[in-house]
Amino acid sequence: MSEQPLFKVTIDNITIEVPAGTTILNAARKIGGEVAPPAMCYYSKLEGSGGKCRTCLVEVSKGSEKDPRPMPKLVASCRTTVMDGMEVKNITSEKVIDARNGVVEFLLINHPLDCPVCDQAGECHLQDLSYNHGKEGTRFEFQKRVFKKHDLGPYIQLHMTRCILCYRCVFTADQLTGKREHGVLDRGDHAEIATFIEKSLENEFIGNVIDVCPVGALTDKTFRFKNRVWFLKPMDAHRDCPTCSGKVTLWNRGDEVYRVTARKDQWGEVEDWICNTCRFEKKNTSDWVIEGPRLIDRHSVIAQGHYAGSVGMHKPTETFEAVHNGRKPKLLMDIHSVSNVNRPEITLSKLDRPAHSSDFKPNQD
Ligand code: SF4
Ligand code: FES
Repeated sequence: MSEQPLFKVTIDNITIEVPAGTTILNAARKIGGEVAPPAMCYYSKLEGSGGKCRTCLVEVSKGSEKDPRPMPKLVASCRTTVMDGMEVKNITSEKVIDARNGVVEFLLINHPLDCPVCDQAGECHLQDLSYNHGKEGTRFEFQKRVFKKHDLGPYIQLHMTRCILCYRCVFTADQLTGKREHGVLDRGDHAEIATFIEKSLENEFIGNVIDVCPVGALTDKTFRFKNRVWFLKPMDAHRDCPTCSGKVTLWNRGDEVYRVTARKDQWGEVEDWICNTCRFEKKNTSDWVIEGPRLIDRHSVIAQGHYAGSVGMHKPTETFEAVHNGRKPKLLMDIHSVSNVNRPEITLSKLDRPAHSSDFKPNQD
């Protein structure tokens, strides 16, 4: 079989080579970091996903080597494949940042601001997006959507008001349960996803819809309101399961297992689907062989204050110099050049004691 040709693509001024047919999003993920656009509906493990939420919009400033014309509109990077010589702008494009702010504002139109009581808080992709791109206020003057409550049984809680209609759970129910009972019912403002999930509830893999949901629309009833994710210690564990791989992440506090989830990769996607028995029924540490602490991105709120006690201290070892190829940190801004608040001879960061009112100029109002 002939090798797939490699295409050169430049994203945010970083050039890489990827096989023909790769999407811009996956090419950007190869570069990693902020260059990778956010994705609320695309899920690499779910066929047909993507193209719904528009958070992954990018600007194609050069179409290809053969046809260098820019693309006239921003494109969904999860659905657009690279061309040889293509140049793409993500965080380096003002148009993209502006459009993404608009998309986030749109996603939040109907989404309730109930993060303080939502079980997804701390690991919600919409929460992260709104911190990065959200506005402080809303221009929406109408009532938010309300829905008739659907009972999805003892394991899964549906909050339709939080749903952003990404269709991930639809694809999961369809592709893992093997029977097509699904669909988004109604359209526009009335669109909702309930019925197909109710009908697939018997399936041993349906619990995975909780893990793929980017927001708190589908949550685990066995964990509901029991704890906040940032108080728990995620631990990799496995068991000999006849149904699934049995490789999970346990979310413990002390010896108590509060919840069990699939392991997720750096893009927040499930590595191995797990069965309902592992997820909902095995809540004793003795059910599992503990492998060790799960590595969590240190920027995540979940990584804060972890791993003291039985699993040992796990402090970040990186220093600025280590992660910036030996470059020393430099003063980005001298506070005295922009503010007269503290006395000119005082540099607060150099004090070897807490700051005191005498370090500041008296109030001149
Ligand atoms: S319930 Fe969650 S996974 Fe399903 S469509 Fe809504 S936001 Fe997406
Ligand atoms: S991730 Fe591309 S449109 Fe949603």
